[in-house]
Amino acid sequence: MGIVNPAIEEYLGRVAPPSAGVLLEMERLASMRRFPIVGPLVGRLLFLLARATGARAIFECGSGFGYSAHWFAGAVPAGGRVTLTDGSAENCAAARDFLGRAGLLDRCEIKQGDAIEILERSAGPFDIIFCDIDKRDYPRVHPLLRGRLGKGGLFICDNMLWFGKVAGPDQDDDTRGVRELTRLLYADPGLHTTIVPLRDGVSISLRV
Ligand SMILES: C[S@@+](CC[C@H](N)C(=O)[O-])C[C@H]1O[C@@H](n2cnc3c(N)ncnc32)[C@H](O)[C@@H]1O
Repeated sequence: MGIVNPAIEEYLGRVAPPSAGVLLEMERLASMRRFPIVGPLVGRLLFLLARATGARAIFECGSGFGYSAHWFAGAVPAGGRVTLTDGSAENCAAARDFLGRAGLLDRCEIKQGDAIEILERSAGPFDIIFCDIDKRDYPRVHPLLRGRLGKGGLFICDNMLWFGKVAGPDQDDDTRGVRELTRLLYADPGLHTTIVPLRDGVSISLRV
């Protein structure tokens, strides 16, 4: 199930300025390989949230070949840092190439391995933690937020409506993972959470 009416989705894509340069190259690669990047609509939201909150330290769980990181890296001020994580060496190498050619590599750190284990080993605090790993693993990130997300920091998570499956009878591991993280986020008194029904659903949680 598409979350947004296709005509509205098309309209949103049409009224926003088109991507260019390396970002456009990444979008074309994603389309060719059917690789699930956040896309330009969510990318702009990530940029906006990072820039509006003055985020300097951003941690990404599941960076793919660096598309979402490109938006974050463009938003952080000089001296800011975006930590990318991905389990695939090939994705990490592609991210290094893309971000290097975009002139953004100086503020990026790329780590290969399990994103949650890397987050566990990272001291923080981070201003933004972004999650886009395998959906069945989504609940694993929640226990780390208390220690790694600074006060006033944002936890942002993609695919929180998971093609609408969250609202239906599906009981597969990925759908259950998304539902469980949603439950944990809303039940956490240290977080103020909302889900924006943009593209496949983006949750935004403020650490209060
Ligand atoms: C949806 S893609 C990420 C797309 C990226 N955020 C973007 O929008 O450009 C998910 C990525 O997470 C990686 N991944 C999945 N589970 C992971 C885990 N537990 N640790 C590290 N990487 C993981 C996959 O290799 C894949 O590249």
